[in-house]
Amino acid sequence: MRVRVCAGSPVRRLSGAGGRRLAAGVDVDPANAEQLAAWDGDQGVFWARWADRFDAGVGAYREGFLGAAAVERGSVVLDVGCGTGQVTRDVAGVASAGRVVGVDLSSPMLAVARERARGLSNVGFLRVDAQVHPFPEGAFDRVVSRHGAMFFGDAGAAFANLARALRPGGRVVLLSWQGVERNEWVSSFRRIFTGGREAPVSPSPAAGRLVDPDAIRELLGAAGFTGVRVRGVAEPMFFGVDVEDAAGFVEAQFGWMARDLPEEARARVPDALREDLAAHVGARGVRYGSAAWLVEAGR
Ligand SMILES: C[S@@+](CC[C@H](N)C(=O)[O-])C[C@H]1O[C@@H](n2cnc3c(N)ncnc32)[C@H](O)[C@@H]1O
Repeated sequence: MRVRVCAGSPVRRLSGAGGRRLAAGVDVDPANAEQLAAWDGDQGVFWARWADRFDAGVGAYREGFLGAAAVERGSVVLDVGCGTGQVTRDVAGVASAGRVVGVDLSSPMLAVARERARGLSNVGFLRVDAQVHPFPEGAFDRVVSRHGAMFFGDAGAAFANLARALRPGGRVVLLSWQGVERNEWVSSFRRIFTGGREAPVSPSPAAGRLVDPDAIRELLGAAGFTGVRVRGVAEPMFFGVDVEDAAGFVEAQFGWMARDLPEEARARVPDALREDLAAHVGARGVRYGSAAWLVEAGR
């Protein structure tokens, strides 16, 4: 996910120990410093504000993901990159005699997650870098992540850390986006906002580190997971109830891509967007094709 502006908060080097940086109270690996700045800054504020739209956007994946996680009543679960916490709450509803810990870098998103989980006694949140946080070894029956494990600067180290946190016999279940060519929403909005030109450099650090299924298998296998299974899943992604509703959200998310366009071309973007959105309106609102990998593994 990328947003228009992403200045984020500056990361101060307070400690050289282990090459880590302590910024705004979080011990973060230097490889994730940009992610911290983005998610704890403007990007996090943006997605905290649009939490409901994101949840609705990927809502078609919700049931399949929860089913694959196969959480049980007494499960102890780690939700990696929990964001505003819909998955954390879904899992908590199933693990009624267990416990769910949501971890994330983003203060604004965690604030929403905490607020929405008020009253759930089996939920806790930590603002930590999941790549390096010293989770208790073998503490979790499940490690789950919906689009939250695609951002690690050092994915090998991160998944080794998560494998250590999972108990033998436990399961990891992840959802991550497939490539642009399988995600109509990205290719359409990119085309519209760039006028078919090359996109400018994103102001936010890139996601998309779990795009190639062979690389995912290799990465998780090397990290200590077993029986890695990568399944392609495709669902419509929701953007709004009607054209204007969707346009407001899409412009806020992709508008930065038009920043280098000549003025005339930029002036054509709003109409081009609305025309494309109108072509994607159906009985269930404005929806575009999307595709993700559902990754399952044991330990
Ligand atoms: C696309 S959002 C997904 C949020 C949530 N899983 C959901 O489905 O609603 C990605 C989340 O990953 C978090 N994240 C990125 N890198 C992280 C890291 N190294 N440690 C913990 N969280 C991280 C971001 O702060 C962000 O909230």
